[in-house]
Amino acid sequence: MSDFRITGGHRLEGKVRAQGSKNASLPIFVATLLTDEEIILRRVPHLKDIHTLTEILQALGKTVEHNQSNIYSFSKTQKLSGKAPHQQVRKMRASFLVLGPLLARIGGAEVALPGGDAIGMRPVDLHLSGLQAMGAEFELREGVVYARAKRLRPAEIFLKYPSVGATEHLMMTAALIPGRTAIHNPAQEPEISDLAQLLTKMGAKITVTPSHIEVAGCERLCAADHTIIPDRLCAGTYAIATALCGGEVEIGANPTHLRPLIAVLREAGVKIEEHTESILVRADKNQRYRPLEIETRPHPGFPTDLQAPMMPLLALASGTSRITETVFEDRFAYVQGLQKMGASVEVWGQTAIIHGVEKLHGAEVQALDIRAGVALVLAGLAAEGVTIVRDPKEHIARGYQNLGGDLRQIGAEISAT
Ligand code: UD1
Repeated sequence: MSDFRITGGHRLEGKVRAQGSKNASLPIFVATLLTDEEIILRRVPHLKDIHTLTEILQALGKTVEHNQSNIYSFSKTQKLSGKAPHQQVRKMRASFLVLGPLLARIGGAEVALPGGDAIGMRPVDLHLSGLQAMGAEFELREGVVYARAKRLRPAEIFLKYPSVGATEHLMMTAALIPGRTAIHNPAQEPEISDLAQLLTKMGAKITVTPSHIEVAGCERLCAADHTIIPDRLCAGTYAIATALCGGEVEIGANPTHLRPLIAVLREAGVKIEEHTESILVRADKNQRYRPLEIETRPHPGFPTDLQAPMMPLLALASGTSRITETVFEDRFAYVQGLQKMGASVEVWGQTAIIHGVEKLHGAEVQALDIRAGVALVLAGLAAEGVTIVRDPKEHIARGYQNLGGDLRQIGAEISAT
């Protein structure tokens, strides 16, 4: 059940709610390592990456219970181990974040260099240099980081790039180091604030500003109950779907988190109303949108994870658009699939030039990663005829808990095969 069969051309109508955020859940799951007391997390999405991370935390000694649908509880029954299972860690990049919390809790850790999507080099130098500033020592042997720290100390850290993962990693580690740590040039993604909220509930004092994050950590962190923010990437995907297919759809999400996308969609000519806990997207089925120039940037710039989903909309725009990818170096491989569906796109290094065409047609295409896979599904919704998106590695299930069901609920003809 990992492929999608889509018959394009249906108008979308109704209401849909974004799942809980994957990218907020993953670091927050890791943060449960910081305490033995009970952490309850609500609105956790059902995703492959969440299951993998659950297995990693269990292997490290956490007890993870998952009683009700989207509620997880974390406690501890055994001594924490510092050895993360290599095979699982290599499956997903976010699992690397266990390194700092393990160092802070037990003074040593052994964590494989991470895997994740094949979208560029994705090094972890900023994670390691930040932890080094806190007093950690590392050795790298055969793709595994062996780390030690007698006692971590608070630090003044300057990130040369606002990496999301490094900011989260250093912020959660600092929460368990008594004293004041400052992280300058931090990432400002909404998921960072969600993690800061959880850490605050656990007892750390955290001030988040665009220029720096200040963490006043403590010796022990305590129990907390937290609801994960809605997934802005999932909500954004449904907003783009509505714009592509025409219709009127209310999407349950936090409009503030979606502002960078909303601005771009409005510039193209899509009508969007912002409500307190939702956005309403209105689009005319036969409308052709204005072409755009988009550059992906750290938040509040245009998110790299919505770069691929935006491409089908620009492929059907009334002129030539340009997308420049500045966050990852290899994120246009999916363009081949769109070309097979009739899109006219040229890729020059980090820039794609998209000449709008009047229509796309159905084809059999391959999902290469989460967002690339979803971009092809979106193209299929707007295309004439039937599109099959093959996803043998289940990339899409890493990011969307119920993509087919959610889109069907608002009128799309899509089935998992
Ligand atoms: C997170 C998101 C991912 C999103 C990305 C950028 C999660 C689980 N994943 O990934 O969906 O696409 O943010 O918004 O939240 N870099 C370095 N050195 C480092 C760390 C990063 O050079 O130590 C580079 C990476 O190679 C990449 C860029 O910084 O080119 C962005 O990476 P980062 O912000 O760390 O993204 P992730 O946290 O991996």
